[in-house]
Amino acid sequence: MKNVLVTGGAGFIGSHLVDELIKRNMKVRVLDSLVGGDQNLENFGEKVEFVKGDCCNKKDCAKAAEGIDTVFHLAAHAAEGQSVFIPEFNAKTNIVGSINMLSEAINADVENFVFTSSIAVYGTQDKMPIKEDVRLNPDDPYAITKKTFEDYLHVYHELTGIKPYIVRFFNVYGPRQRMDDPYRGVVPIFINKCLKGEQPVIFGDGLQERAFTYISDVVEPICDIVGNKGLIDNPVNIGIDKPYTVKELGKRIVEKMGFDKGIEYIEKRTSDVKIAFCDMTKAKKLFNYKAKVDLEEGLDKTVEWAKKEGPQEFKYMDFTEIPKLTNKTYTSKKI
Ligand SMILES: NC(=O)c1ccc[n+]([C@@H]2O[C@H](COP(=O)([O-])OP(=O)(O)OC[C@H]3O[C@@H](n4cnc5c(N)ncnc54)[C@H](O)[C@@H]3O)[C@@H](O)[C@H]2O)c1
Repeated sequence: MKNVLVTGGAGFIGSHLVDELIKRNMKVRVLDSLVGGDQNLENFGEKVEFVKGDCCNKKDCAKAAEGIDTVFHLAAHAAEGQSVFIPEFNAKTNIVGSINMLSEAINADVENFVFTSSIAVYGTQDKMPIKEDVRLNPDDPYAITKKTFEDYLHVYHELTGIKPYIVRFFNVYGPRQRMDDPYRGVVPIFINKCLKGEQPVIFGDGLQERAFTYISDVVEPICDIVGNKGLIDNPVNIGIDKPYTVKELGKRIVEKMGFDKGIEYIEKRTSDVKIAFCDMTKAKKLFNYKAKVDLEEGLDKTVEWAKKEGPQEFKYMDFTEIPKLTNKTYTSKKI
C-alpha cells in the first residue's frame, strides 16, 4: 500500500483516516463531494491531493482511481434513521455510488478495496454480542445498502481478484463528528444540546445499549489490516466490546458538560434496535485487535474539542420521499 484514495475523506472518520495515512507516509488522494461540508479540508495541508467529485459520477470515480493501489471507500449517506424516509437518495449514494467506485477501481487495476460497512447489517438479533457469521437481517434502507454492497464486493472479488476488506463499525464518536446534524450521532447531538443550553432528548426509555467506539480505535486498525490475507473478503467487526445504555451515556455527557437541566425522554423511534453490540473474537484472533480508549477518556477528548468549537445550529432537511414515514421528531425540528 502506497498510493491511496480515501472517498469521503472530508468527513468525520475519513479526515482522521487521512491523518493516519499521512503519518504512515502514504501518498493520499481524497474524493469527496463536500455534501457533508468542507470544515475538515483545512487539516489536509499540501500533502493531500483533493478531488472534488461525486461517487455517483463515474468520471469523477475514474479520475480519482487513476494510479491508486488501495481505495478506502467511506463516502456514504450514513444517516440510518433518515434513510427510512429518503430511501432512493440513500440507495443512489450507497449502492450506485459504491458500484461506480468499485468499477473504476477495477478498471484502474486497484489491488485493495477497503469498505466501511456497519453493525446495521445485523439488524435485530437474538444473541448478543453479535458475531460476523450470523444471518444478516437488515431492517432499514441504510442497512440494506451496506449489506448489498458487501455482496457486490464478494462477487467482484471472485470475478476479478480485487481484494475487499470489509469492516463493520458501530457508534463511532470523537472530535470532528458533525454536531449540527440532527439525524445521526447521539454523542455529538447530546453535547451540542448541552452547549446550546437545551436538554438532550432520549427516544424511549434510554435502555438501548450501544458500544460507543472512539475514533482512533477504528482508524488505526483499518490501516493495519490491508495486506492481511485472513481478512480478504472476510467481514470483521471493529470497535469496543463494552456496551453502555444511552441513558448512562446521557448522564455522563451532562455531567462532563456541567449541564444542570437533565435529560428529556420522548416517544420511542420505530426503527431503533434495542441492544446492539459486537463480538470481537475474530478481530482479536486475526490481527490482535483491542480497543484502547474507554468511554470516559473518549468523552473527555470529545467534550474538550466540542467546547472549543462552541454550539452549532442544527441543519434540518426539508426533503422527504415518503412524508408518511418522516419521523415527527424530525419534522417538528425537535431533537
Ligand atoms: N460514524 C459511525 O458511527 C459509522 C458506523 C458504521 C459505519 N460508518 C461508515 O463509515 C463511513 C464514514 O462515516 P462518517 O461518520 O465519517 O460519515 P460522514 O458523513 O462524516 O462522512 C461521509 C463523507 O462522504 C462524503 N460524501 C457523501 N456522499 C458522497 C458522494 N456521493 N460522493 C462523494 N462524497 C460523498 C461527505 O461529503 C462526507 O465528507 C460511512 O461509510 C459510514 O456509513 C460510520
